[in-house]
Amino acid sequence: PLCVTVITTMALTFVVEAECSVTKARSSRLTLPHTTACTPMFMPVGTQGSLKGLTPPQMVQLGCQVVLGNTYHLGHRPGAETVAAMGGLHAFSGWHGGMLTDSGGFQMVSLAKLSSVSEEGVTFASPHDGTTVLLSPELSIAMQNNIGADIIMALDDVVSSLISGPRVEDAMHRSIRWLDRCIAAHARPAEQNLFGIIQGGLDPRLRLYCLDAMIARDTPGFAIGGLSGGESKDEFWKMVHLCTQHLPADKPRYLMGVGYAQDLVVCSALGVDMFDCVFPTRTARFGKALVREGELALKHKRFATDLSPIDADCGCYVCKTFTRAYLHAVVKSHTGAQLISYHNIAFQLRLMADIRAAIEADALPGFVTAYMQTRFGPNV
Ligand code: GUN
Ligand code: ZN
Repeated sequence: PLCVTVITTMALTFVVEAECSVTKARSSRLTLPHTTACTPMFMPVGTQGSLKGLTPPQMVQLGCQVVLGNTYHLGHRPGAETVAAMGGLHAFSGWHGGMLTDSGGFQMVSLAKLSSVSEEGVTFASPHDGTTVLLSPELSIAMQNNIGADIIMALDDVVSSLISGPRVEDAMHRSIRWLDRCIAAHARPAEQNLFGIIQGGLDPRLRLYCLDAMIARDTPGFAIGGLSGGESKDEFWKMVHLCTQHLPADKPRYLMGVGYAQDLVVCSALGVDMFDCVFPTRTARFGKALVREGELALKHKRFATDLSPIDADCGCYVCKTFTRAYLHAVVKSHTGAQLISYHNIAFQLRLMADIRAAIEADALPGFVTAYMQTRFGPNV
């Protein structure tokens, strides 16, 4: 298929290369200051700039193009100014590929015991030393400017998708006002792309209001936030679809915190380009290996004498080298977690490559059907 859309802003070029003729899916080349990535893509989370337990050369070997870093963790240790003084996170961490940092507020609200939101920002007791910290839109952007990722996120007011009422509407409006403060504070627009985050809970009216307001701010890309927090799949898909329907076709769309394989398949079909989630590495630390049929709980004794690899179709280093029996034996060790993480990231990246290939062949509906049959069909 022809190249259909091109947008170039100061630090980003987004070229849609193929569109599905049935669904809203598209594949693209997203050029950022440190990489050119193919979308739809999954971005693994590495809290300190590298993946938990994986080194930058391993991430390169896996074909990882963009990694997620957390402003919150880096702001604590070594501190955003220190990272800047060392030449930014790329030089500091040894990861030279694409990077995206989240704004920190979401992590604070989910990690800190006590947090409160005011118009100024998010106040919380640091889980590290108990001191009170105010994360304002200006401070979040200053820290993210210091860290130096290719894509930085606006500070948003995130509420649980399970609550309703005026707090949801207030948080949506506040997220728009904070986006304006983030845009005003952003000191490196020629090198870093600031994305706004659509909020509004599960209420279509609030989501549409937020979409209009944020699209008018014309940021180089947009994220969909506040989902995958325990709402039903039906409500989740409706909100994702509403957002992808209204977001401009010529800018990247990023669905935050979503990483179950079935959600990657469905939401790619709904027109999402970028995903991130701690799930594949977190579940690896519990000894669970991802396969097309679901998960293998490698702690289970039935794997003690199983001499097959995690997945015979996976070409990753772990599947080419180790048996399920070996991984069962080391599953509780650091090595075990590392090896399973490696495979799980390989699994996610290969799934995304398969989704892209299906879009490029205009064969996505058949791919989705086959995927769902393998995952949920009667013969699993
Ligand atoms: N990660 C997962 N969901 C969200 C969200 O709504 N906002 C931010 N900033 N990060 C997220
Ligand atoms: Zn593998």
